[in-house]
Amino acid sequence: MSPVIIAGSSHPGMALSIAQALGAKVLFPVVEKFPDGETHVVAPSINGTVVYVQTMHPYPNEMLMEMEFTADLLKELGAERIVAVVPYLAYTRQDTRHMDGEGIAVKTMLRMLEKAGVNDIVSVDLHLHRLGLQELSGMTSIRIHEVSAVDALAKESGRYLKKPVVVGPDAESERWAKRAAELLDSHYDVLEKNRISPTEIEIRPKTLDVKGQDVLIIDDIVSTGDTIKKVVESLRAKGANKIAAAFTHGVLSGEDAAAGLYRAGATYLISTNTINNEFSRVDVGPVIAQKLKEIL
Ligand code: R5P
Repeated sequence: MSPVIIAGSSHPGMALSIAQALGAKVLFPVVEKFPDGETHVVAPSINGTVVYVQTMHPYPNEMLMEMEFTADLLKELGAERIVAVVPYLAYTRQDTRHMDGEGIAVKTMLRMLEKAGVNDIVSVDLHLHRLGLQELSGMTSIRIHEVSAVDALAKESGRYLKKPVVVGPDAESERWAKRAAELLDSHYDVLEKNRISPTEIEIRPKTLDVKGQDVLIIDDIVSTGDTIKKVVESLRAKGANKIAAAFTHGVLSGEDAAAGLYRAGATYLISTNTINNEFSRVDVGPVIAQKLKEIL
């Protein structure tokens, strides 16, 4: 039997895409704000397993609070298992203590969701730079499942680029760069990135020969755009032909993030719809639905 899908307020389109792939029905809880800013949720009573879809951008804190209230309410109203589909899982970059007293926010977030009754999380291309999936899952009892958008991103880039060299901005992006290169029957390399602060990075270009060639840059998140911008600049300096940047999560903080990439010399931007933006050319609903079929 198809599961019931509950659509959080952040991304009803994603809930519908998943439901269509599963032949399931979507229910929309009422989510309102009281005049003082408190969240007010009215949800249907569902027994058994519920799939709850909520992405965490924009306004990650607001979206998290809505998830807390909704999950707790769904459990109280009869749900036995809550599978939260969180296409963009915020806070995953805060996964370690860089200085005394700093919070490991991803752990706190998972504990909050666990307490509210979430049993599983399905997400896309998780930011697993220091921790592996098992370590992230080991933080709480929540089972965390990951799907990847790389196949679809690589396929989409093929409409625009000719046998591109694939470049990842840092060592952690290697898993995506390698996969994209395999699919495009090309080769890949990863650059060296050093993060000086949340807003400052340094990229060390490699002696990669891209002269006259199309290039596909691939990464999980574009936030300020600085990482990709530096990569684009160095590829332009090396005489690359067309440069496309493909990224799963278009956080695109600040008004200038995407414009800055074009100014640096990127000619095509491709993102998925884990967060809706004007570059969301890839729908991850079907790949999430496939994972749900496996785990439900
Ligand atoms: C970090 O290591 C990620 O994989 C991304 O490269 C990073 O989050 C991008 O951030 P920004 O666009 O602000 O440089």
